[in-house]
Amino acid sequence: MKVVESPLEAYAHIDQWRRQGLRIGLVLTMGALHEGHVSLVRRSKDENDITVASVFVNPTQFGPHEDFSRYPRMLSEDTLKLRNAHADMVFMPSAEQMYPSGFSTFVEPPSVAKGLEGACRPDHYRGVVTVVLKLLSILPSRIAYFGQKDYQQYLVIRNMAEDLNLHVRVQCCETVRESDGLAMSSRNRYLKPAQRHQALGLWRALVTAKEMLAHGDIDVSRLESAMRNQLYKDGVDRIDYARVVDRESLEPMINVDRPSVALIAAYVGSTRLIDNIFLQADVAAVKTS
Ligand code: PAF
Repeated sequence: MKVVESPLEAYAHIDQWRRQGLRIGLVLTMGALHEGHVSLVRRSKDENDITVASVFVNPTQFGPHEDFSRYPRMLSEDTLKLRNAHADMVFMPSAEQMYPSGFSTFVEPPSVAKGLEGACRPDHYRGVVTVVLKLLSILPSRIAYFGQKDYQQYLVIRNMAEDLNLHVRVQCCETVRESDGLAMSSRNRYLKPAQRHQALGLWRALVTAKEMLAHGDIDVSRLESAMRNQLYKDGVDRIDYARVVDRESLEPMINVDRPSVALIAAYVGSTRLIDNIFLQADVAAVKTS
């Protein structure tokens, strides 16, 4: 596996592979890799000839009071995991290489970035779409793989790629969970053992909404209150949002009468976690008819 720090060198490798007609899949990460990231590498390997990963903790997507400085950095463990997963190249630039002095161009995110994470974390998606566009320019690929755990991020990047005519397919891949349901996340390593149970409250709340829908309750405000109640029951009381919204636009809904998604962002101690689940309108329709 090639380990490359320079954007020019990374592009040169990609260019050579593309000239050979090889199909390239891309997995963009901020490192602290877990099984969720590895599953994206595996999916890319199944669908492409070459798999490239990036590891870069992007400063521009963190707010001034967020966890940029304490975000886990473990380059040698990450390199080993990518090597074991048989990635062909990992691109690990420095902050200076990505944002040299004088850097001043930012991308305006699409409208789907406005609510939810966008409302709680001003400028977060501006930093995400800017770095993703830069990474896609350095590492032009056929398909880029993202996890469903960051579902709004997936939509934001997909819409940016469509709006800006990028030649890449943006692929959403199922969230990988621990055996009890906790979504895998680089931030789970911040959790103390006693907080692990609270963290699982996010998944329990999402499952509660799904079960209510399966029993015919399509009322979004009832589903949202039930999610909040479940979170409180599990000791999670600092909730940024617990919402059920349209799955494509992320706009609010009154009833679950079309494909939707339930999303939660909440704090467990000082750790901010997010998770989501797809809700199928047809499940309720079958039960209520
Ligand atoms: O999901 C992430 O890890 C990051 O937001 C991404 C897409 C690598 C951009 O920094």
